[in-house]
Amino acid sequence: MFSVTRRYQFAASHRLHSAALSEEENQRVYGKCNHPYGHGHNYVLAVSARGPLNPRAGSAVNTAVLDRLVMRQILEPLEHRNLNTDVDWFGPAVPTSENLAIEICRRLKRNWGAAFSGEWPRLEKVRIEETPRNIFEIRADEVE
Ligand code: NI
Repeated sequence: MFSVTRRYQFAASHRLHSAALSEEENQRVYGKCNHPYGHGHNYVLAVSARGPLNPRAGSAVNTAVLDRLVMRQILEPLEHRNLNTDVDWFGPAVPTSENLAIEICRRLKRNWGAAFSGEWPRLEKVRIEETPRNIFEIRADEVE
């Protein structure tokens, strides 16, 4: 069994501010990410899929198919968007990278079968590097 990972990049902005917290709590929880006018990140998204080697193709995951899926479902809707105001994935949730990873995982799972027919490959995990020091990873089987 192989785990195959593809890396992608997109730029987006956000403001971390929860309506459920007071101004002081927002400042304490989110620090400078609570700044009222928001800020941008050059996000690095890594998508991992698992599958057995296909002996005829000599590969485990058709990365061209994966690229089309990620492009259509994730990169195009997010590129150069404000995650608070331009993207309706989050509802009342704060567009932290944890919530972003969950929503990306959900969208990939929901559209996976239309891209990859058959039992393999399966989505394994989604990882977001918000900055080189802030990295968030979630396993697909932990997301509904
Ligand atoms: Ni931020």
